[in-house]
Amino acid sequence: MKNKELKNTIIKILRKHNLSLLHSKICAEAIINAELVGAYGHGLSRLKMYCERIKRKLINPKPKISIKKLSESISHIDANNSIGFVAADLAIKRAIKNAKKTGIGMVAVKNSNHYGLSGYYAEQAVKKNLIAMIYTNAPPAIAPHGARKSLFGTNPICFGTPSGSKVPFILDTSMSVINRGKIRFASKTNTKIPKGVALDKSGKPTINPNKALEGVQLPIAGYRGSGLAWMVDILSGVLTGSSHAGEVKDPFDDFSGPQNVGHLFIVFKNNLFVKNFNSRVRYNFIKIKKLPKVKGVKEIMYPGQNKYARNRVNSKKRIKISNQIRIEMKELLD
Ligand SMILES: NC(=O)c1ccc[n+]([C@@H]2O[C@H](COP(=O)([O-])OP(=O)(O)OC[C@H]3O[C@@H](n4cnc5c(N)ncnc54)[C@H](O)[C@@H]3O)[C@@H](O)[C@H]2O)c1
Repeated sequence: MKNKELKNTIIKILRKHNLSLLHSKICAEAIINAELVGAYGHGLSRLKMYCERIKRKLINPKPKISIKKLSESISHIDANNSIGFVAADLAIKRAIKNAKKTGIGMVAVKNSNHYGLSGYYAEQAVKKNLIAMIYTNAPPAIAPHGARKSLFGTNPICFGTPSGSKVPFILDTSMSVINRGKIRFASKTNTKIPKGVALDKSGKPTINPNKALEGVQLPIAGYRGSGLAWMVDILSGVLTGSSHAGEVKDPFDDFSGPQNVGHLFIVFKNNLFVKNFNSRVRYNFIKIKKLPKVKGVKEIMYPGQNKYARNRVNSKKRIKISNQIRIEMKELLD
């Protein structure tokens, strides 16, 4: 199936699940992007889950999203339990608009759902020569430092900035050693996960994705990563009025209510304090890239370069669809 055809199929599936054409297109774009940058755990592998939650009335396919303007810079969105892509699309657009007007745009979103990749939204701001900081919380996956039970989500931290070249700097990283989507993908495709990323429910290290999903994921950098995941929970959960403290529901196996995910988008102009930000950042990158390299490293890359390169290569090819996902898509269309 060609990528355009695949996008139309996703739109068709979502239309069948009562999303408007506009909302279906927004979701399809984001899902295709996840596939193109190689974030398979946030792409097609989630389509069945979104539809299941819509069917069970846990995602609202026809949300009445409200935007409260708190100042020229700050807005608060109540997503009315929309699919996360739609709320996030609205939020980043509003944050960009506010930033263009006042220098800084801050948009908090409550009552939302999983929105995919933070970097996808950061890129939209960076393309307009703006800097973006984006946070979302997620269902329990990581045990806080010193605890035996998961509570924090993989809670990605995202920072995007113009780089002075066409390849944006997008640091977009989960607080777990690997993201939960990758473990779900491994479970779905019957493959192993790397060592050192998760413990089973008895606290033993495991490379079995199913055991990892029942157990806990390990945070990056021990107590430091635990602290950062906590910060994300405060910024996207406590601050926005969404679920927090381990109360965001797992979209795959908790059907007891809506997820109530929170997101925070902070976008600002890069010339607030200096006029020549882009040339300064370029100078910064050049100095770092010229450093002597470790054996085997061809290039010191900045965050985002890898995904940009993958996107370029993958855009020229057909997106690979596993048999399992092909079957799921067929069933969703029936
Ligand atoms: N919505 C959610 O609930 C949720 C939860 C967790 C993760 N996510 C998304 O999952 C995606 C993947 O997260 P991840 O932690 O697996 O990302 P990752 O480990 O693939 O990459 C993390 C960061 O490191 C950079 N990077 C990778 N290789 C590099 C290299 N060689 N040199 C320099 N930089 C390099 C990447 O560009 C990226 O910015 C993110 O887009 C994140 O937003 C979403």
